Amino acid sequence: MNVIHTIDALRRIIFENKQKGKRIGLVPTMGFLHEGHLTLATQARAENDVVIMSIFVNPTQFGPNEDFESYPRNLERDTMLAASVGVDFIFAPTVEEMYPHDGGIFIRAGHQATLLCGASRPGHFDGVLQVVAKLFNLIQPNYAYFGQKDAQQVAIIQTMVRDYNIPVELRIVPVVRENDGLAKSSRNVYLTATERSQAPAIQQALQLAKREFIESGNVDKSIQLAVKIIEANMDGSIDYLTILSYPDLTEVTSETEQVLLAVAVYIGKTRLIDNLIFSLKGEPAHV
Ligand code: PAJ
Repeated sequence: MNVIHTIDALRRIIFENKQKGKRIGLVPTMGFLHEGHLTLATQARAENDVVIMSIFVNPTQFGPNEDFESYPRNLERDTMLAASVGVDFIFAPTVEEMYPHDGGIFIRAGHQATLLCGASRPGHFDGVLQVVAKLFNLIQPNYAYFGQKDAQQVAIIQTMVRDYNIPVELRIVPVVRENDGLAKSSRNVYLTATERSQAPAIQQALQLAKREFIESGNVDKSIQLAVKIIEANMDGSIDYLTILSYPDLTEVTSETEQVLLAVAVYIGKTRLIDNLIFSLKGEPAHV
């Protein structure tokens, strides 16, 4: 496996492989890989001739008081893990390589970015769209792999692909969890032992709220149930706990086919997110 740091080298590899008619799969990440990322890469391996993983802690999606500087990084370990699941190339540019110009042209996410994580992280999704659009242009993948763990991110990227006619197919991978239900995340390393032991309450709360919502259809009652469980079991504070129609992220109505039940909880210094997406018609959800 090769680690590439420059856009020039990346373009050469893309050109060669496109000329040979190879199918290219892209797995965008910020590194510090865990099983969630590796599941995306494994699926990409199965569905493509060439698998490229980007590893780039993207400064433009972090707010001024967020953890850009302290975000965990370990390219050496990531390289070994990526190789173990058959990734062909890692694209790991520097910030200067990705953003040499301060051109002042941005893609702005719309309504979908105003709520959930977007409400407490203004500009975050604009930064995500900026880097993802650049990666799509540079790599021109046939398939790009994203995790349902970041359901709002998926919904917003889907909208960009649709509205800007980007020729890529998004492949969405279900949330990969620890045995006790906690969603895997690079930020889980921030948790103290006590916080870690409390964190599975998030998933338990979502499961109960989902059951309540399917039975009663009552948004408020379902949310209150989940809030109660989190408050009783965690020394955290809830940022949001919301039920919305997916992927448009509007209020649930009788027309809604897919429901997003999403939560963000601050516990100590860490902000954890999780969600469930389900169909109200009793069929498995398709994201
Ligand atoms: P990062 O947080 O590193 O996540 C990279 C990809 O892995 C995302 O698509 C995310 O949804 C997926 N992922 C993370 N944890 C997962 C889990 N437990 N189960 C399934 N998938 C999981 O998301 C980003 O990076 C960035 O915003 C990025 C898209 C790379 C743009 O900078």
